Amino acid sequence: MNRAAQTQHPTKDRLPRYTLGTDSAAAQRLRVLDEVYHQTTWALLERAGLREGWHCADIGCGTGLVTMAMAGHVGAAGRVIGVDEAGTFIDVARQTAAERKLKNVEFGSGDAYAPPLPSAQFDLVYARCLLSHLDKPLRAIQAMTALARPGGRVVIEDIDCSGVFAHPKAPALMRHLGLYQRVMRLYGGDPLIGRKLPRLCRQTGLTDVRFEVVSPSEPLKPVKRLYPLTLTCLKPAIVEAGLATARDVDALTAELNAKVDDPDVTFPSCPMVQVWTRKS
Ligand SMILES: C[S@@+](CC[C@H](N)C(=O)[O-])C[C@H]1O[C@@H](n2cnc3c(N)ncnc32)[C@H](O)[C@@H]1O
Repeated sequence: MNRAAQTQHPTKDRLPRYTLGTDSAAAQRLRVLDEVYHQTTWALLERAGLREGWHCADIGCGTGLVTMAMAGHVGAAGRVIGVDEAGTFIDVARQTAAERKLKNVEFGSGDAYAPPLPSAQFDLVYARCLLSHLDKPLRAIQAMTALARPGGRVVIEDIDCSGVFAHPKAPALMRHLGLYQRVMRLYGGDPLIGRKLPRLCRQTGLTDVRFEVVSPSEPLKPVKRLYPLTLTCLKPAIVEAGLATARDVDALTAELNAKVDDPDVTFPSCPMVQVWTRKS
């Protein structure tokens, strides 16, 4: 790794930003992320009580894959709105919703700290893998809580990068996870946000705070593939931060891909902490 370059970009000069990019590779990564976590997300939403006729908001919705799944569930009497700061993702989401002829879903650009949505209106307010990218997660949960009606649900799931293992050992995976955590922190995020979610929710005043930790694993093929895809998307932010050269990242990606293709090497997905709560 490029040690000299590491000191050229002090953390304090960095603006918080979404490190994984918003181009077509990043959209493809979100499809694979959804393949990995779709079932556990669905189980979470069912535990939270999602039902027909509900009005829901999906904050940091990306390309809207969960938003659209929720829209299918709430039916014609329900409505789901997805909000994301990335216009390119919102365009993809709108196009997909039009192709699927979904009438009860809407997408809009907006900031998680001040979503352009009415207060106290939603039966369920949801976010997946958003808070790990934010420098003020408590403020974002407060903003989500403000959108929920009294008695409504606030449901959040996000990663906690610790606890990933490989057997037999896969040093490339561990180096990737190290880089991932460093670059996320440099840009204001928190790769260990998962463990903090229940407490942050209680601090926000949410009640009935419950949580579970899930880590979908093999034989789900995309579980392993998600790691090198993530590294590829992170490459510009890693290089810009001086944590490694583009060539270092390419070499690490190739090494990681070799472990992904090796059926003898086992590794699980990054643990996801799922929290479901109620606004009193
Ligand atoms: C890892 S993606 C998850 C997308 C989606 N929730 C999913 O699970 O497929 C994180 C998303 O958060 C969005 N995001 C990051 N910071 C944001 C902010 N301050 N306001 C709104 N969206 C934000 C990014 O643009 C990105 O789409």
